[in-house]
Amino acid sequence: MQVNQIRNKFIDFFRSKGHEAVKSSSLIPHDDPTLLFTNAGMNQFKDTFLGLEKRDYTRAVTAQKCVRAGGKHNDLENVGYTARHHTFFEMLGNFSFGDYFKTDAIKYAWEFLTSPEWLNLPKDKLYVTVYHTDDEAFAIWNKEIGIDAKRIIRICDKPGGGSDNFWQMGETGPCGPCTEIFYDHGEGIWGGLPGTPEEDGDRYIEIWNNVFMQFNRDEQGNLHPLPKPSVDTGMGIERISAVLQHVHSNYEIDLFVNLINSASAITNCTDKNNASLKVLADHIRSVSFLIADGALPSNDGRGYVLRRIIRRAIRHGYKLGRREPFFYKLVATLVTEMGDAYPELILNQELIEKTIQQEEERFFQTIEHGMTLLHEQLQSNIKQLSGEIAFKLYDTYGFPLDLTQDVCREHEITVDIEGFEKHMAHQREMAKAAGKFKMSDALEYSGCETIFAGYAATSCEAKVTALYYDGLAVNELVAGQDGIIVLDNTVFYAESGGQVGDSGTIAINGGASCLFEVSDTQKIRAAVHGHSGKLSIGSVKVGDKVVATIDLHKRMATARNHSVTHLLHKALHEVVGAHATQKGSLVNSDYTRFDFANDKGLSQEQVEEIERIVNHVIMQNYQVQVAEMSYDDAIKNGAMALFGEKYGDKVRVVKMGDFSTELCGGTHISQTGDIGFFTITSEGGVANGVRRIEAITGEAALKRMQANMAILDKARDQLKAQSNDIVNNKIESLIADNKTLAKEIAELKAKLASSQADKLLDQATAIANNAKLLVLRMDNTESKTIVELIDKFKDKLGSGVVVIGAVNGERVNLAVGVTKDLTNQYKAGEIVGKLATIVGGKGGGRPDLAQAGGTDITKIDQVLAEAKAIVK
Ligand code: ALA
Repeated sequence: MQVNQIRNKFIDFFRSKGHEAVKSSSLIPHDDPTLLFTNAGMNQFKDTFLGLEKRDYTRAVTAQKCVRAGGKHNDLENVGYTARHHTFFEMLGNFSFGDYFKTDAIKYAWEFLTSPEWLNLPKDKLYVTVYHTDDEAFAIWNKEIGIDAKRIIRICDKPGGGSDNFWQMGETGPCGPCTEIFYDHGEGIWGGLPGTPEEDGDRYIEIWNNVFMQFNRDEQGNLHPLPKPSVDTGMGIERISAVLQHVHSNYEIDLFVNLINSASAITNCTDKNNASLKVLADHIRSVSFLIADGALPSNDGRGYVLRRIIRRAIRHGYKLGRREPFFYKLVATLVTEMGDAYPELILNQELIEKTIQQEEERFFQTIEHGMTLLHEQLQSNIKQLSGEIAFKLYDTYGFPLDLTQDVCREHEITVDIEGFEKHMAHQREMAKAAGKFKMSDALEYSGCETIFAGYAATSCEAKVTALYYDGLAVNELVAGQDGIIVLDNTVFYAESGGQVGDSGTIAINGGASCLFEVSDTQKIRAAVHGHSGKLSIGSVKVGDKVVATIDLHKRMATARNHSVTHLLHKALHEVVGAHATQKGSLVNSDYTRFDFANDKGLSQEQVEEIERIVNHVIMQNYQVQVAEMSYDDAIKNGAMALFGEKYGDKVRVVKMGDFSTELCGGTHISQTGDIGFFTITSEGGVANGVRRIEAITGEAALKRMQANMAILDKARDQLKAQSNDIVNNKIESLIADNKTLAKEIAELKAKLASSQADKLLDQATAIANNAKLLVLRMDNTESKTIVELIDKFKDKLGSGVVVIGAVNGERVNLAVGVTKDLTNQYKAGEIVGKLATIVGGKGGGRPDLAQAGGTDITKIDQVLAEAKAIVK
C-alpha cells in the first residue's frame, strides 16, 4: 500500500466513525508563541482541548504536516543516521474533544491496525505500553481487546522527570498519559522492548501514540484538569508505511525511494544507501513545506532553523562533489510525490525553488573556504575542535554550529561548545531572538466569547464581562486608571491579519458616569476582545451596561488602507509575478505597509504601473462584496489565501469586482471609490528575498500630493524656471556649473601653492649628506594637489624626503614622497603607515610615494613633529 493510499484509508476509517476531516494547519503556528513549528496533529486543536475555542464537531481526523527541527521536539541531528528520524513528517491523528475517551480510542486504533478490512497487521507483531499507574488503560487492552498481559508494558517516569508515556506538546499546555503501540520488525534487527536497556534499537518501533488529554500544565509546572477528558493520537505515516511495505527503514518506502532516486541523479551518487542521499531526501521536504507556509531563511528564530536545514543539505551535496546549486532541483520530484495531497507545494513551486537556489548561491560562495579551514583542523590529529574555530566557521563562513558538529562527528571529533558560546557572547542578540518563543503572560478569563458586531455597526450596547488593572482581574476601574475592558459584544475590531485594533470610547450615560477612552483593541484569547485604554470620568464595574463606539474617522481611514492592500497585492501579481506573495502586512489609519517575496527592487516603471492599475480599479467604483463560505469553496472561487495563516472551517471572502478575491477577516470600505486615491511612498528591501512597499490613500495621499506640489512650486520660483524645465534645464545645469567651478578652484589652489613652493623650500632641514627633509602643513588642499606638490618638491630638492599633512574638513590627509636615490634608506609606505596610526587611520603606497587618511584632526601637529623624528 502506497503512502498516498494509507493517508486516505486513515481518513476514511475515522470518517466512518463520525470524525470530521480537518485540513492540516500551517507549519508556522502564528497564534502560538510557545511553539517554534507545528510539531504534532494536536497543535491546531490546543485551544479546543483547553476549552477556549468551540468547534462545530467533537471528533476530528487529520493528516498533519509536522517539523521537528528545533524546540522541545528536535530530530535534526539524527536525520540520515537512523531508519526513522525526519525533520519533516506527516502525523495521522484522530481527536476527541470531550467526546469518547480511553475505551473507544483504544478500540478504534486496534480495529484500524488489525481488521482485515483496514490495515490487517498480524496481532502477534504488536506490543503496547501504558503509563505505569494507568490501570484503566491496562484493563482495556487486556480484558476488552484481549491482549496477553505479557505484551502490555507499564512505563515509569524517568529518573530526571518526564516519561515516554506521558505526552506534552511543550513546556506548557495540554498533556496527559498515553498508550503506545509498537511493531516488531523481527529478530534480524537489533533492539529490545520498550523499558529494556536495548529499547533504542530499531527492532521494536513505536507506530502509534494515543494520548489521553487530561491536564493543562502551567508555567510553574503544575497540572490543572482540562474541562473535559479528551483524546489526541499520532501515527507517523512514514513508519506505518514502512511496516505495510515490508521494509525496515522509512527511507525504503515508495515516497522516499523516489526522492532518493532523484537525489542520486542530481548528485551523481550511485550508492543509494549513502546517508547523504537520505539527508537530502528528508531535508527537501521540511525546507519546501516551510517555505510554502511562509518561512524564509534568515538569521534568527524560525528563519534560522530553515537556513540551518538548507545549509546542512548543501553540505551533504558538497560531500558528494557538488560545487554549485543542486538542491533546489529536488523540489520538482517532491511536488510530483506530494502535490496532490498538499496543493500549496504546486502553487508555490517557483517560490520554493528560487528561495533554495538563492540560499545555495550564497552558501556555495563561502563553503569551500570553510571546509578547507575545517579539514586542516581535522587532519591535525585533534580530539576536539576549538570553540574559536567553530565560531569562525559560523561567523565568517556561515556554518551553523550543528553543521560543524555534523562534519566533526563523521571524524569522531567533538566540538568545544562552551568555547563557541563564549565567542558568541557578543552576539547574544541573535540568541534572544530565538528565545522569544515563550509563553506570554496571559490574562485570566473565564467569561463568554465576544460577539463582533463591528462589520456592520459602529456603536453597540454591551455588558462588561471582565476588567483588568495592572495585569490582574478586578471588579471595578475608577477614573485615572489605565486598564482593559472585556465586553460580551463589541464593534471594536481587535488587531489581526495585519490590521490594527480600533480605538474609540466605552461610556455609561453618554460619558457622564463613565468614559473609558480606548486606545487599542487586542484579542486576549481567540474571540475575546480586550479594549485597553484609560478611564477618564467616573467608574465601571463588571456587569455594567455600556455603550461602545469606535472612532469612525480612524476606522474609515484604516478600512481604505486595508481594502487598497488587497488591490495592491493583486496588482503586484500582475506586474511582478505570482511569486510576489504576501510576507507580512501592517494596516493602520495612516498607511499600509506590505511585504512581499521578490529578489530584486521594483523599477520606477513597475511602481507607476502598480499605481495606475490600483487607481484604475478604484475608479471603477466596484462594490466590495463580503461572503462566508467553506475554505474549499473559497479557493475554488479563486480566492488568494496565505498558506502561513490559520483559517477556520468557514472563511470570510472579500471580493472587489472581478479584480481581487481574498480571504480576510478585516474591515473594509463599501465601494472601491471610497479609497479616493492611492500612491506608493516607498519601496525597499527588508530581508533577503523580501521587499516592502509603503503606500497611502484618501486624505493622506491628497496631503502628500499637495506638499510635493508646494515644493515644486517653490523650486520653480527660486530657479525662475517653467515647471517642465526645472529638472532638465535648471537643476542639471546648476550641477554642471558647480562641477566646473570646483575644478577651477582646485586648479587655482594648486597654482597658488606651487608659486609659494620656492619659499617653502627654505624650511627643509638636512638629514644626511646632501639629502633634505621637508615637512609641511597645508590645510584645505585636496589629496590630488598634495601629490602633485610632493612631486614638485622632490624635483626641487633633488635628494630628500617630503611629508605633507593637511586637515580637510573632518579628515586628515597625509602624503610622503622619497626621491629615487633614497628609497633604499627611506620607505614612503612605512613612514606614512606609522604616521597614519596617530590620526586613527591607515595608509600605504610605493616606496617613493605613499598616502594615508585619518579622522583625528587634533593630532595633525603631533604627526608632523613625529614625522621629523621618524625620518631622522
Ligand atoms: N500528540 C501525540 C504525539 O505527538 C499524539 O505523539
